[in-house]
Amino acid sequence: MRILLTGTSGKVGGYLARYWQGNHEIIPLTRQQVELSDEEALRKYLHENDFDLLVNPAAISTPEGCEQEPTLAHVVNVTAPEIMATICAERKTPFIHFSTDYVLDGSEPGFKSEDAPCHPNNLYGKTKLASERAVLAVNPQALVARVSWVFGSAGEGFLEKIFRQIREGIPLEGVADKYSLPSSAREIAHALDYLLIKNERGLYHLTQSATEPVSWHRYAVEVATAVHEIGLTPDVLPVKARQMAEIPVLRTHRPVHTAMKPSRLHELGFPVRNWQEVLRERVRELAK
Ligand SMILES: NC(=O)c1ccc[n+]([C@@H]2O[C@H](COP(=O)([O-])OP(=O)(O)OC[C@H]3O[C@@H](n4cnc5c(N)ncnc54)[C@H](OP(=O)(O)O)[C@@H]3O)[C@@H](O)[C@H]2O)c1
Repeated sequence: MRILLTGTSGKVGGYLARYWQGNHEIIPLTRQQVELSDEEALRKYLHENDFDLLVNPAAISTPEGCEQEPTLAHVVNVTAPEIMATICAERKTPFIHFSTDYVLDGSEPGFKSEDAPCHPNNLYGKTKLASERAVLAVNPQALVARVSWVFGSAGEGFLEKIFRQIREGIPLEGVADKYSLPSSAREIAHALDYLLIKNERGLYHLTQSATEPVSWHRYAVEVATAVHEIGLTPDVLPVKARQMAEIPVLRTHRPVHTAMKPSRLHELGFPVRNWQEVLRERVRELAK
């Protein structure tokens, strides 16, 4: 399959390029090829090039990035995916778009399935929710993949940061009053393969299974425990619990309760793996 893939210099796109390479032909759609805020250039590129699948992890992917350049954030995060979805619908080519747990209503504790209410509290979440709706309105055959706290990607996620800090002897800390769920880049890729084979469409939560939502502090403790279990530290290193209120940027810009339940993957019978098991696999990889 010829896969046109945006965001290949980023964490998720970079991982997917490596993952699919070998089985598929990857055509990277980088900023150098097309600046996604240039609507005409994007349309022209998509009309003039041949591909069997378009995958769009490209985004302005932080709340701060979106708030610094709100107009650009809207064009890159909403207009560009809408153009991609429209052209894929016209040519009957599958389209996968990425989104985030930050679209959810973060006020109530507990897991959120795909049909849970959305109420983003920052511009990043608002643009991503607008993108989900725009993509599925113009192309109901599209697949929208919400992910959260991705580890094992092409960049440094929270897991890799904690592992590095342990290696470098840096004291550990984690925010204890914000909850979500880690997702493995490899498991995201496996789920996408599965959804493509099944010809699935619509919105999916691509995350791991868990018995309860996880805070960053709990996540860091799990990494420290896994590192100790494989003998890299004599004890489980302590992790200082911080509060969002102590960290102004988090207090003003991040929703609190956004742990996603991968309900539709479960319904399909996809073997969603437990976050602690997958985390240990990644820690063992990093230790090699
Ligand atoms: N990583 C996570 O933990 C996480 C969590 C929740 C949701 N997500 C979602 O998953 C997707 C992928 O996230 P990520 O972590 O891989 O993001 P990332 O590391 O920030 O990568 C973003 C990518 O988008 C590209 N891009 C941004 N603006 C562009 C523009 N104007 N024109 C062309 N390319 C542009 C960047 O290219 P340049 O290098 O040229 O800037 C980069 O390749 C996003 O939709 C994000 O919202 C990720």
